[in-house]
Amino acid sequence: MTSVKGLDVKSIYSASSSWWEHVPVAHWLVANIKPSTIVELGTHYGVSFFAFCEAAQQYNLDTFVYAIDTWKGDTQAGLYGEEVYQKVKTHQTQYFRQRSEMIRSTFDNASEQFGECSIDMLHIDGLHSYDAVLNDYNKWNLKVKEGGTILFHDWNVHEEGFGVWKFWSELKLSGEYQCIEISNGYGLGIATKTKNIPTWHDELKKVLAILKVKGEVLANLQEEKEKVKKIESKNEILNKHAKNLETIIEKKENIIRQQETYINEKTKSKIYQLAKRIGHKIKWIINLSNTKRTN
Ligand SMILES: C[S@@+](CC[C@H](N)C(=O)[O-])C[C@H]1O[C@@H](n2cnc3c(N)ncnc32)[C@H](O)[C@@H]1O
Repeated sequence: MTSVKGLDVKSIYSASSSWWEHVPVAHWLVANIKPSTIVELGTHYGVSFFAFCEAAQQYNLDTFVYAIDTWKGDTQAGLYGEEVYQKVKTHQTQYFRQRSEMIRSTFDNASEQFGECSIDMLHIDGLHSYDAVLNDYNKWNLKVKEGGTILFHDWNVHEEGFGVWKFWSELKLSGEYQCIEISNGYGLGIATKTKNIPTWHDELKKVLAILKVKGEVLANLQEEKEKVKKIESKNEILNKHAKNLETIIEKKENIIRQQETYINEKTKSKIYQLAKRIGHKIKWIINLSNTKRTN
């Protein structure tokens, strides 16, 4: 059996994303077609970004990956905080500083930094409305080399506000691209700018089934990791609560102990005074009876 190049790339990163199903495809693409310049529009937690970087690290040290995002979110991904950027930055700095760069910008503004025909692989994964994808494509497609490839995530989502499927069907009809449609997950469209089917398209199609299986495994693994994380954070809350309760119980026990001491002392002194009074009375009776006897 021949081994599938790229299938052995490991993902050590963990973050929530609908991209996990396609991570092995990204590994395969980098390992097999060895693009020099990859540009990603829409990185969020960086699952797709790091998939390209991991494969570059193992299979092609000449690949350089640019990740472009405002790292603020959008109406579909939701607005998020600074911690997302920090998480991605930390992992990128630790593992992929030499073969990647994070550009914090809008796609439109960042497009000025890239010249015509300078990109081998473009990944479009920003806002998924029809207008947004059309705009991203129009601003960036001339920057992709002849023979280069554009990846479209979410082409298979038909929910309200999602229009990649419409754009994708128009692109296929244009005849300017050779396309592969991967339908699992949210769908990944691969469009290569050429009139003839590249040989690697046929090779990719042959191994797609196995890449899909690995993708499902990675997605399930991530789901399990998130469940464990939720349980761990619930445990942490319960442990804190238990500790608080222990402190409260300790304080209450102290109060009870103090009250017991107080009561004991009070009781002791009352009995003493009573005994003293009884003692006086007995002395008085004895004296009285002695006096009566002598009389
Ligand atoms: C669907 S997420 C990207 C998911 C990511 N590729 C992954 O692997 O999980 C879309 C991201 O695009 C960013 N975004 C959307 N429109 C943008 C724009 N015009 N300029 C810069 N960033 C944008 C959002 O901030 C968000 O983080």
